[in-house]
Amino acid sequence: MKHSIWLTVNGETYEREIDARTLLVHLLREQLGLTGTHVGCVVGECGACSVIVDGALVKSCLMLAVQADGCEVTTIEGLSTPGIPDTPGTLHPIQQAFIDRFALQCGFCTPGFVMAAHALLARHPDPTEEQIRQVLSSNLCMCTGYVQIVEAVKEAAARMRRGQGHRQGHQDELATKHTKDTEGSSTKKHQDQTTLP
Ligand code: FES
Ligand code: FES
Repeated sequence: MKHSIWLTVNGETYEREIDARTLLVHLLREQLGLTGTHVGCVVGECGACSVIVDGALVKSCLMLAVQADGCEVTTIEGLSTPGIPDTPGTLHPIQQAFIDRFALQCGFCTPGFVMAAHALLARHPDPTEEQIRQVLSSNLCMCTGYVQIVEAVKEAAARMRRGQGHRQGHQDELATKHTKDTEGSSTKKHQDQTTLP
């Protein structure tokens, strides 16, 4: 049985007809083309599929797409700002800190860790190491050993508190210039970049 849903993803509104059993992660990747959200275990253990839904960190393999009807979703693609002619793209401070602190190797787990860190720092701009480790404990990395990831989140928090890399205004400007939806049946509306409370 098909269900009609609409949701906002990274500031754009989509409408889709989907099967009731479609997982949110599969909607994002296979129907919206947002493949930055990775699929690892599909049973809620690895965190590779982590996204933000209405301000809450969610493992999108544990959520049916119909449950996201009417929700605002932010994926890893919603954090960075793509470049356009005459305007260079920029990474989110968390993404940049992961690079600078060597917090990734194969990178498979990285989008999930970045989204978990994003959710944490939205609520706790100056988190303790215990808070960082607590949030990141829902994500698995097979490569790095976690130390660099924790250091990257600390570094990102410090940079964000100093205002480095803050470019919401730039994101809003670019959000009016970009559309991603490629399916003819979908509707598209430009909206402000999704932000966490
Ligand atoms: S793919 Fe969702 S938690 Fe592993
Ligand atoms: S960097 Fe390879 S799984 Fe984390």
